[in-house]
Amino acid sequence: MNVPRESVPAATPQVGIATPHESAHLHVCGRATYIDDLPEVAGTLHAAVGCSPLAHGRLLGVDVDALRALPGVVAVLTAADIPGSNDCGPIVHDDPILADGTLHFLGQPVFLVVATSRDLARRVAARAKDVIHAEPLPPVLTAREAHAQQLYVVPPMHLVRGDAATAIAAAPHRLSGSFSLGGQEQFYLEGQISYALPQEDATLHLHCSTQHPTEMQHVVAHALGWAQHRVQMTCRRMGGGFGGKESQSAVFAALASVAAVKLGRPVKLRVDRDDDFLITGRRHGFEFDWTVGFDDDGRILGVQADLIANAGCTADLSAPVMTRALCHFDNAYWLPHVALHGYCARTNTQSNTAFRGFGGPQGAFAVERLLDDIARTLGRDPLAVRQANFYGQSERNVTPYGQVVEDNVIDDLVARLVQDARWAERRAAVEAFNANNPVLKKGLGLMPLKFGISFNVAHFNQAGALVHVYTDGSVLVNHGGTEMGQGLNTKVAQVVAHELGLPLQSVRVTATDTHKVANTSATAASTGSDLNGKAAQAAARTLRQRLDAFVAEHPQHAGAPWPALVQAAYAARVQLWSDGFYATPGLHWDRDRLQGKPFFYFAYGAAIAEVVVDTLTGEHRVLRADVLHDVGRSLNPAIDLGQIEGAFVQGQGWLTSEELVWHPQTGKLATHAPSTYKIPTANDCPPVFNVALYEADNPADSIHRSKAVGEPPILLPFSVFLAIRDAVASTGAPGCLPPLRAPATPEAVMEALEAVRS
Ligand code: MTE
Ligand code: MOS
Repeated sequence: MNVPRESVPAATPQVGIATPHESAHLHVCGRATYIDDLPEVAGTLHAAVGCSPLAHGRLLGVDVDALRALPGVVAVLTAADIPGSNDCGPIVHDDPILADGTLHFLGQPVFLVVATSRDLARRVAARAKDVIHAEPLPPVLTAREAHAQQLYVVPPMHLVRGDAATAIAAAPHRLSGSFSLGGQEQFYLEGQISYALPQEDATLHLHCSTQHPTEMQHVVAHALGWAQHRVQMTCRRMGGGFGGKESQSAVFAALASVAAVKLGRPVKLRVDRDDDFLITGRRHGFEFDWTVGFDDDGRILGVQADLIANAGCTADLSAPVMTRALCHFDNAYWLPHVALHGYCARTNTQSNTAFRGFGGPQGAFAVERLLDDIARTLGRDPLAVRQANFYGQSERNVTPYGQVVEDNVIDDLVARLVQDARWAERRAAVEAFNANNPVLKKGLGLMPLKFGISFNVAHFNQAGALVHVYTDGSVLVNHGGTEMGQGLNTKVAQVVAHELGLPLQSVRVTATDTHKVANTSATAASTGSDLNGKAAQAAARTLRQRLDAFVAEHPQHAGAPWPALVQAAYAARVQLWSDGFYATPGLHWDRDRLQGKPFFYFAYGAAIAEVVVDTLTGEHRVLRADVLHDVGRSLNPAIDLGQIEGAFVQGQGWLTSEELVWHPQTGKLATHAPSTYKIPTANDCPPVFNVALYEADNPADSIHRSKAVGEPPILLPFSVFLAIRDAVASTGAPGCLPPLRAPATPEAVMEALEAVRS
């Protein structure tokens, strides 16, 4: 079905307009309800998690009796209390809900305290180190160490095209290098939370802050040994997810549910920020080793790279994260010969998981870092080197994983940005500034991006929706996606309003609920509005067709106002609600060979950043950022701009200030709260921040020809890192390659400055 927009009976279009977020009026005055704001049911108990004090050990036992005797304690649960399967792994079933036999990381849940108040529960749980009896084992704490011992959570993956070794050997120039890229905490403002309410006849209603209600329903049903139809999962909204609530909300969902069912009382589990840091995983830090061969123009002829991710102690989503890293190593560039090897290293740390971009940013970072080296080595403009490598036409348009890049707009997009942001002129100005300033050094960085949209696993690319039209003409929508602040519900409401020719106020989107739309995919991989928008559109279109047919049979209703038409149709027994379903067409993927067409289309973008670095302290400021980002034909330019700006600053934090430090002996995460882990604040936003949308129809038949926007712009702030490196390089000899690691904290910058000086 491909009905052009004009045929829609909308008096005024409802898509393509900058309406505010559907909950903005609630967000700003604190009236948007998050799970902890729900009125508590009488008798609600509160849970807290007792965590492993060791990074690795043999669990001998837990002295639960000592805890049960403490005031306010109603129950203390261990692995033995889980009636069904003690596992919350989303793909590989290697992830115990409560430790059983072995302790895999410091912070791993070992027991659950259920008490009359949250405060009491937390005080009792804090006694973990006194009551957990365990024999320490030597931990493996870094990805390099695990890789040396060949400890992996999933088998290594290889993406190979052509003969990289021969191409590199024959190339006019060669470079080898290594690079270390840190991980990143999601730092959703609303922490992980689950509230489980036992219902009649051995059923359960669970409120959980999650991007993946269906997966929570599965995990809870398995943990209880129940059929899925006994578990109802509801989520109105999250206070941010960023990937951290895709799989890792599961342990909390399962714990609250098991306790609630066992005690026959409502149980709420809201983890403290420090515990959230200690228990859950985050963006995978990566180590890269590469060798590249290139010509005099900086064109890559062959590249070999090892990508070593710190997966943490279990598989979680590491396999798809690594797949996406390997499939984004090419970024916007045609690489004729590649040999990429991905290793998901098993360490005794939190199990790492999804975070905005899902490994894609890490893969793309590697090639950008490598191109920066090439440009510096050749003494060429980094823009020219990138342009020389861009995907082109025939032959030069096939990705290493076999997908043809058919929708390439990178040349035009970058050319426009470079012109608007005056790249060449400002490069000269930065050089002049640096020549006259011995202490403060400026730098410029440029970053083009291409990002694949769809889940790599083809069958996840499906969605369902329900649209109800009530007899007063008001419309209620439910779909399988979740709202985490990204504006999905707003976009879906716009699509439905547009389809039915109604003003936006007539349409309300309700909480995501597994009792309404079943078997949903995670709201992830930026596909939320692509999938659920299409499903809701299909449902609304069915309703419109029914009403059209009704009018055709009863011409006296032609031109009737909407409520009257709906009334008349109801009286004539026309079904006024409909389901809708969507499955992204044309996708296929061979996950053993890493070949196929995993993506429906690509999103593009580019950024230029200018920084100033204080070479005495290693501190920097971003002075200006210019962004041009491709969102196809925007469904909502206000929301899309917000996503781009938010992603830019979030990525800036990842690459400059957010540093994760585990104690080198104990494996305790030392950076576990805002006191020690620095996310960017409003003060870190570039004071000059020019963000524009590159609006052109998505050639793929996406929802109203829009493009997904959630994740791709997280690559834009690589420009900030490259700008810092540029400033550092200006203090060394021409052609120097500053060994700047990410995040480029003042400490890392000082080390790099030191290295280029000597
Ligand atoms: N924006 C906000 N405000 N909060 C979030 O948690 N998550 C990001 C992105 N933007 C996130 C966000 C991530 S990781 C993804 S995958 C997408 O939103 C998911 O939503 P979408 O598919 O509807 O874009
Ligand atoms: Mo986003 S990392 O796919 O939740």
